[in-house]
Amino acid sequence: MEALITQIENADSLETLETLRVDILGKKGTLTKEFARLKDIPNEEKKAFAQNLNTQKAAVANAIEVRKVDLEKEALNKQLESEKIDVTRFNNELTCGAVHPTVDTMDRIIQYFQNLNFSVEEGPLVEDDFHNFEALNLPKYHPARDMQDTFYNKDYTLLRTHTSPVQIRTMLSQKPPIRMIAPGTVFRRDFDLTHTPMFHQIEALVVDEADKVSFANLKHVLEEFLHHMFGDVEVRFRPSFFPFTEPSAEVDISCVFCKGDGCRVCSHTGWLEVLGCGVVDENVFKAVGYENYSGYAFGLGIERFAMLIHNIGDLRSLFESDLRLLGQFK
Ligand code: DAH
Repeated sequence: MEALITQIENADSLETLETLRVDILGKKGTLTKEFARLKDIPNEEKKAFAQNLNTQKAAVANAIEVRKVDLEKEALNKQLESEKIDVTRFNNELTCGAVHPTVDTMDRIIQYFQNLNFSVEEGPLVEDDFHNFEALNLPKYHPARDMQDTFYNKDYTLLRTHTSPVQIRTMLSQKPPIRMIAPGTVFRRDFDLTHTPMFHQIEALVVDEADKVSFANLKHVLEEFLHHMFGDVEVRFRPSFFPFTEPSAEVDISCVFCKGDGCRVCSHTGWLEVLGCGVVDENVFKAVGYENYSGYAFGLGIERFAMLIHNIGDLRSLFESDLRLLGQFK
């Protein structure tokens, strides 16, 4: 009997303990078989024999129960130990986020011009007619004010359609010399492969005494800048029109995909248009009360730059927050 109890006390797992229980108390167990012998025992010994068996059965059952509780506690502790979370442990496998390509491109451009001593200026997203149009030599009924392009509010304010109004605000609040860029969000009623209703631009403006700023300066600054952004590309200035500059130009780079041979992205022209620029129109200076100054300005779409730098086919994908796209920029 004692040997049995010791065996139970030393059972090293719940499975072993269960096997022991079946061996002793199960249908064919050793103790159960003893009970079956009761019918062969002489009557006068029956009581003592049965009492003895019951005592043994109770002792075994009790020992099993005690061991079971212990083993269960052990198993639980083991489980708790293995599932414990060490909140102080630094997880090297943590995946970091990525800077969004639009923000990354914007930061690169801002940094480039900050290194050239340009200040970074800001203006409101909800603009008025004067700053967004009138002062930029876009008089009433100019086609660029078309309801199709501009989001108007009921109170005759509007969502700025470009970052150019920051030029006006800066000239009204500062005196030349001015060297500024204005990065920011702009809005237009447009939605297709290369347009979204909200996108980002960077505007630049340089104003100084009349003989100090020329188209040649503008050309040099832009050529250097575009080589910085796109590497070894050709840069071409094409005569164009903007109400706020005269003369005006659009600037193309040789296609970054086909190197100028012609492909789908450049519509087989070998050239990609990347920005607009020009010498500040005299009417703009009049609107802000400047006399005897000259200046140049340019404006560019940041998403367009990001698309060309990273070979992104659909501008809208930059705003869909799809982790499969963003994950590529880690
Ligand atoms: N504001 C123009 C646009 O949104 C971009 C632009 C073109 C800005 C020429 C300029 C400029 O300052 O000189 O399309």
